[in-house]
Amino acid sequence: MSHTSHTSHTADRQALVVGASRGLGLVLVGELARRGWRVIATTRRTGGELRAAADASGGSLEVESLEMTSPERLAALRERLEGRRLDLLFVNAAIDRGNLPIDEVPTAMFTEVMATNALSPLRTLAALRGLVVPGGTVAVMSSEQGSIALNTEDGYDLYKASKAALNQLMRSYATRHADDGHTKLLIDPGHNRTGLGGPGAPLDPRESIPAVVDVLEARAGAPGLRFLDRHGETVPW
Ligand SMILES: NC(=O)c1ccc[n+]([C@@H]2O[C@H](COP(=O)([O-])OP(=O)(O)OC[C@H]3O[C@@H](n4cnc5c(N)ncnc54)[C@H](OP(=O)(O)O)[C@@H]3O)[C@@H](O)[C@H]2O)c1
Repeated sequence: MSHTSHTSHTADRQALVVGASRGLGLVLVGELARRGWRVIATTRRTGGELRAAADASGGSLEVESLEMTSPERLAALRERLEGRRLDLLFVNAAIDRGNLPIDEVPTAMFTEVMATNALSPLRTLAALRGLVVPGGTVAVMSSEQGSIALNTEDGYDLYKASKAALNQLMRSYATRHADDGHTKLLIDPGHNRTGLGGPGAPLDPRESIPAVVDVLEARAGAPGLRFLDRHGETVPW
């Protein structure tokens, strides 16, 4: 599939990845940089692997600070990025708080997971979408776990609900901004070995993330919302 309407030149494509300190986000920024993207990567830590990667990147990888649940810090990041132009805005950050049955989930935990995984990504898009060029892409890391149709195995009620809520909010976003020309993507990266995915997950992020970037690059310039896995296949809502 080729989409030739993408406005920016391959050599100077710029991405912003939110939540890149570790796990899939860290691998994602490394893969984008390897393919020649200029990358702004956010973290809420100091130092660490992301800082080391940025220091070794010769300027192509830049670190910014963001606690995604803070509207004030989102607004401050938007200010700092004034004048920048993004071909890709990718919200990767999310949390998991374990496998309690929903009736045992404390209210504070429910609020924290929903606010982090569903509300904050949409606030992030609202705050930063103005930096995305016509023909650019806004993407959020979702999960097959957010598919209502595929929810046939017991467990992880709250996390699944948060990703289903994310997907629903992204559909509302896509309707509201139907005419902005942006490609809009919800990505299911597969079950990967990370802090969130656990050590027993079948996939290595270094295998799945290049496939995810293939999907991002293939969909660039094709407006509208898709919920896609790392093979570019549609995931049922
Ligand atoms: N691993 C899987 O199998 C899998 C499967 C499907 C979907 N996903 C999704 O893929 C994405 C990445 O997951 P992962 O497995 O790489 O998880 P991870 O290793 O736990 O990393 C999560 C990342 O999100 C950041 N983050 C969390 N809350 C944040 C906040 N409030 N503000 C800013 N950054 C925040 C973390 O930063 P800190 O280092 O500061 O905590 C970290 O960089 C998530 O959206 C997840 O739901 C993962």
